[in-house]
Amino acid sequence: MIGIFDSGVGGLSVWKELIRVLPEQDYIYVSDAGYCPYGPRHKEYVIKRATYVSDFLISKGADLIVVACNTATAASIDILRKTYDIPFVGMEPAIKPAAIRSKSRIIGVLATKGTLKGKLYRSTLKKYASDVKVIEQIGEGLVKLVETGQTESPAAMELLKKYLRPMINQGADYIVLGCTHYPFLQKSIEKITKGSVHIINPAPAIARRVKSIISGRDKSYSGVGKTTFYTTGSDETIMKNIIHSIQYLT
Ligand code: DGL
Repeated sequence: MIGIFDSGVGGLSVWKELIRVLPEQDYIYVSDAGYCPYGPRHKEYVIKRATYVSDFLISKGADLIVVACNTATAASIDILRKTYDIPFVGMEPAIKPAAIRSKSRIIGVLATKGTLKGKLYRSTLKKYASDVKVIEQIGEGLVKLVETGQTESPAAMELLKKYLRPMINQGADYIVLGCTHYPFLQKSIEKITKGSVHIINPAPAIARRVKSIISGRDKSYSGVGKTTFYTTGSDETIMKNIIHSIQYLT
């Protein structure tokens, strides 16, 4: 049983890739929307939530957990791996593919404050982006718009223009989506960038990583392709977003 969690519905962008590459597995998804957003909070707050949710997922039978949240990964992945004896797969900002492919040698990263201030992001930058210019932008307000289904609203367009135009104007040719909520905004992002930049969503790479862990396991058990959803927030929001993620995420 694969456990997945996020501060809200953002992790559905990872779940969507997981069910594509591992359709026969069973999943439990927790949207911790009652405590969303994680991005602007203290690290301790996020660690507490990540531990609470991981305990819950394990009590329901999860034997591998995908931390489908960049912010929670940045704050807690080391602690989670030390605390529990099951594998944890976290989100890593996709700096490496962007840095390798960028021709202009300028890339943009859109993520939460917690992610951009985290050690994991800093070390990834040092490792893979020492020879490219990286324009960082905190996507303040975007998570709330995604949680409330306003992905193509005037408010979303306005915020995205404010965040993306400086990247485009400075010549970025790759933009990394460093928060799992942001793939829900891809259509609006493309309206603004008009094909001038490539957008990188790390979710498919995370799903491949989970597949490689699973394929090393005993094949006698396989699930039935079922996902059970839990939320600390509103049932209606998660229901709407499951439908939305199936229709919208590419
Ligand atoms: N989906 C999240 C991430 O990937 C968390 C956003 C938030 O709660 O602020 O960072």
